[in-house]
Amino acid sequence: MRKKIVAGNWKMNKSWPEAMELTKSLSLNSSSFPADVQVIVSPPALYLQGVRSELPETLAIAAQNCSQHESGAYTGEISAGMLKSMGVAYCIIGHSERRQYYGETNEVIREKIDACLKNGVTPIFCCGEILSERNSGEHFNTVSTQVKQALFHLSEEQLALVVIAYEPVWAIGTGVTASNEQAEEMHAFIRSIVAQHYSETIANDISILYGGSVNAANAKELFACPNVDGGLVGGASLKAADFTTIIQAAQ
Ligand code: PGA
Repeated sequence: MRKKIVAGNWKMNKSWPEAMELTKSLSLNSSSFPADVQVIVSPPALYLQGVRSELPETLAIAAQNCSQHESGAYTGEISAGMLKSMGVAYCIIGHSERRQYYGETNEVIREKIDACLKNGVTPIFCCGEILSERNSGEHFNTVSTQVKQALFHLSEEQLALVVIAYEPVWAIGTGVTASNEQAEEMHAFIRSIVAQHYSETIANDISILYGGSVNAANAKELFACPNVDGGLVGGASLKAADFTTIIQAAQ
């Protein structure tokens, strides 16, 4: 059975007092969150522990990135094992901003996926095309390559632990959301390549989130698409009221 998930990616936003204010508001609102939706909050790494301690147990936290290495001389990095040891259940991997600004390749992303799975952290694997790829009709190829190179070396049991987030880069932070049809089409495509390589069962069971300018007004329609299992939300997750509406829309 695939899970409905709404994850809020705070990116590099908010001072510590602001982060606490948002966390406390979400805690207060959490009694109105649907029981069958897994809510995940992804603050900057520095705040993970503080945010964890203020949130009810039913909400999970996610790191926004981790190292592909186990441990050692990697100044500034955080390992998946460290995340696990701090009660961090999820980690966003391969976000387009990591690909674009920090040179993360499909190869590095694959290693990070492996590091997460080895350490019992659930990866939220991000994929998605840039605008020129969509305009030239290359978007299925791009996403297929990203998914295959990062995930298709995994065993069926391992893949079953992964969450996929389709985030068209042209929709991230732009206010331009993919249409319901565009989202549904790509989600169904991702499910079809998973079915081809693995099985229908695993394809049906894997959660595929949509990300890219999800907001309180468009979430319900997007989440109603049969192959969309929730969302990875950036800007709108920084406001407790909006994020709460989005969570409720996933019911
Ligand atoms: P956005 O970001 O909702 O602000 O477009 C989504 C994301 O980058 O995960």
